[in-house]
Amino acid sequence: MSVYNQSVFQRGFGTFPLKGEVLAAAVRDAVEIGYRAFDTAQWYGNEADLGAVLSSLDIPRDNLLITTKVLPDNMVAARFMPSVEQSLRDLKLDVIDVLLLHWPPGDDPVEPSLELLQEAHRLGYARRVGVSNYTTAMMRKAVAVMDVPVTVNQVEFHPLLNQEKLLAASAETGIPLSSYCSIARGEIFKYPLLEEIGERHGKSAAQVTLRWILQKDVTMNTMSTRCANMRANFDIMDFSLNPEEMRQVDALTATGYRISNANVVSYAPTWD
Ligand SMILES: NC(=O)c1ccc[n+]([C@@H]2O[C@H](COP(=O)([O-])OP(=O)(O)OC[C@H]3O[C@@H](n4cnc5c(N)ncnc54)[C@H](OP(=O)(O)O)[C@@H]3O)[C@@H](O)[C@H]2O)c1
Repeated sequence: MSVYNQSVFQRGFGTFPLKGEVLAAAVRDAVEIGYRAFDTAQWYGNEADLGAVLSSLDIPRDNLLITTKVLPDNMVAARFMPSVEQSLRDLKLDVIDVLLLHWPPGDDPVEPSLELLQEAHRLGYARRVGVSNYTTAMMRKAVAVMDVPVTVNQVEFHPLLNQEKLLAASAETGIPLSSYCSIARGEIFKYPLLEEIGERHGKSAAQVTLRWILQKDVTMNTMSTRCANMRANFDIMDFSLNPEEMRQVDALTATGYRISNANVVSYAPTWD
């Protein structure tokens, strides 16, 4: 059974680009609201801040799901395990709940980094392993290479980019998807349809967007520094979109809006 079957782990709290006291305050608020899944990465430079605040709170370890990601520059034999050991120390954990490869190496072969990831799992550094920003072809390679389940492919996913091809590959390979930039960093607010649908349900455009993501069978990550937004993003389990509303939101993907392009992240592969 997937760990994401637990409703509380379907709504992750992202930590990029938070650091220091801003991160600590946001995480304390998020925990108070009910978040138990936290997303970080070696790249974010905030694993130690996250480890410090979470360990200061009295949360039973099994109630937390902590995801971190290996920096692409560390995906070589000499640096991979030392970097994961550093993540464990910084996060103050004995084992990482979900360890991801943050980016593929552009369009280069993914096998060497997948083998290192598998080794980290074998060494007991991570309970579960997965990938991020993988294309459909890379998802197929991942299941072919790995002897352990690929727990997730974390990708940009929002109504302006509904990732139909990745969803089809998810059904084919059994690798679930998880979203980042779930509200497209605010870009979704330009589309009145989401607010109109929300009015019928007593919910906001952001809540409609996040509910749509969950109903696509995709778990979601959001980030906010404001309690009201954190609460709204978590409070999406008491309504559902009907098939017609799902189709209307699906149609927004025609905008083709994508944040993680190669001009933003040099590791970006050629997307499907
Ligand atoms: N795997 C990857 O390559 C990758 C890439 C990017 C991000 N991520 C992860 O995914 C997480 C989420 O993505 P993201 O933070 O980039 O994008 P996002 O969640 O789409 O947008 C975050 C922004 O939206 C605002 N916001 C949040 N909830 C809102 C609401 N209900 N109403 C209005 N504004 C709201 C926040 O501002 P306020 O603080 O003002 O609320 C924040 O500036 C990150 O924190 C990170 O953990 C992963």
